[in-house]
Amino acid sequence: MAEERKPKTLTTTAGAPLSSNQNAKTVGPRGPVLLEDYQLIEKLAHQNRERVPERVVHAKGWGAYGTLTVTEDITRYSRAKVFSEVGKKTEMLARFSTVAGEQGAADAERDVRGFSLKFYTEEGNWDVVGNNTPVFFVADPYKFPDFIHTQKRHPRTNLRSATAMWDFWSLCPESLHQVTILMSDRGIPVDPSRMNGYGSHTFSLWNANGERFWVKFHFKTQQGHKTFTNEEAEKVIAKSRESYQEALYSMIEEGRFPKWDFFIQVMPELEAEEWEKKTGWSAFDLTKVWPHGDYPLIKVGEFELNKNPDNYFAEIEQSAFNPSNVVPGIGFSPDKMLQGRLFSYPDAHRYRIGTHYESLPVNKPRSPVNHYNRDGTMPFGLLTNPDAYYEPNSFGGPVEDPSVEEPPHRYAGQVGRYDHRGQADHYSQPRALFNLFDEGQKSRLFDTLAGAMQGVPQFIVDRQLAHFDKVDPAYGAGVREALAKQTRDDAQASLTTSHSVAAE
Ligand code: NDP
Ligand code: HEM
Repeated sequence: MAEERKPKTLTTTAGAPLSSNQNAKTVGPRGPVLLEDYQLIEKLAHQNRERVPERVVHAKGWGAYGTLTVTEDITRYSRAKVFSEVGKKTEMLARFSTVAGEQGAADAERDVRGFSLKFYTEEGNWDVVGNNTPVFFVADPYKFPDFIHTQKRHPRTNLRSATAMWDFWSLCPESLHQVTILMSDRGIPVDPSRMNGYGSHTFSLWNANGERFWVKFHFKTQQGHKTFTNEEAEKVIAKSRESYQEALYSMIEEGRFPKWDFFIQVMPELEAEEWEKKTGWSAFDLTKVWPHGDYPLIKVGEFELNKNPDNYFAEIEQSAFNPSNVVPGIGFSPDKMLQGRLFSYPDAHRYRIGTHYESLPVNKPRSPVNHYNRDGTMPFGLLTNPDAYYEPNSFGGPVEDPSVEEPPHRYAGQVGRYDHRGQADHYSQPRALFNLFDEGQKSRLFDTLAGAMQGVPQFIVDRQLAHFDKVDPAYGAGVREALAKQTRDDAQASLTTSHSVAAE
């Protein structure tokens, strides 16, 4: 609750006390206004600069600070100090988001949710920039901008386009797994605390002996899954577009701290090739999971969110999560999407926030930062050592530490543009998911899909139905039946409308 406090003197940004923040300086009581009232100019000019560009994706978000606690020993997999002992606590920041909507979008819309975590470890920031789903729509970074264009507004109508979405998805069957999750009950969590998070990509861990393991990160809600149907979500949105912000903010203010269990799946480095031969799935394909039966979840710890930001703009809007932020003991994998993201995020941050975005308090590591990047706009907080401004130097500038070099990767192969989409099996994993659904879940999935396909040209619908058929004939048949029912309902509704118009 806001408390009444004794005020300080209002000053200019240059620190001089101000006589008035209410009345413009004018010639006579009715004006005009003098240019010398530079504090008015200053105030208006500042307002014009209050926004930074919204994120090109994941623009609507909600965030809070928290604490990661390690409860199990995983030092056999990783030398990262964040995991060095059971009981270890690390401060962190989380930001959840929807993907497609702009900053003013309603929270309870059907969409994938972003699940970004920044751990302020003693060896630098480690960011997990994942989603609430373990897979993604596409597996090659070339396809990401096109996919996102289908989720955003049509250039002519300035409206979202179901035709564009289904055109793209039906031409990219690797999207089927993610589309099935998105259109399932899990597609609209009631608030950020009621969903899981996944690092989604395969990353790597390496231990003190230089052994590498491929790893998937999982964060499972301790609050339990709770989701809205489309109809429930519509009612929520009619009342409030900010339902996630309200829920997350108030649960933390009231001390009901949301928590997630942190697990990993681990694949020894040399097993990836063997597993691909056995299953036909690449361990580095973002449209596939590693089934738990093959790679069980291993507990690492848990995190809770326990502090709201004081300034949403400074701490959440200007937060910068980078999949490229890893620390010694955690590394990347050859996943092509991940490799594309390693470039994209810091580039987005330099554009969206500014050259020195990492110096902002929310992004600043809690460990020492020493580097030779210099100058640029507002290089505040950069350490200056006037004589050691280049490297190597003899004047005490920071020096490298070869002991944190990760073990070498075993990459080899012929350079080329490889298309895995043609041959890969895009149907078995959605089938495994479909088979987990009970009759009610299946029926809601069919209705949601049929609703989402409204107005889409029939040839595109047919192309997509053929993919559903390949997952399971019952999947295709269910969506066909839901589409037919919708057509009957629409015909009935227009009949009722024309009857009542005729009766008037
Ligand atoms: P399991 O039976 O061991 O696990 C099923 C998983 O599905 C659980 O993680 C469960 O999450 C999750 N789940 C249940 N309903 C949904 C839904 N509507 N949308 C998304 N996830 C859901 O099976 P397998 O590991 O063999 O995987 C079978 C299928 O489950 C996969 O093809 C994939 O579609 C899905 N899945 C698998 C995951 C994995 O990492 N193996 C992760 C998430 C989904 P929870 O435990 O929180 O209820
Ligand atoms: C945000 C690019 C794939 C999760 C962003 C942003 C960009 C971007 C430019 C805005 C960053 C900012 O301004 O702060 C890409 C590219 C991808 C890709 C090029 C593929 C090649 C993915 C995948 C996931 C994901 C696969 C999840 C597994 C997120 C999340 C955010 C985000 C959670 C919001 C981060 C935040 O909370 O600030 N992405 N993305 N993205 N992306 Fe991606």
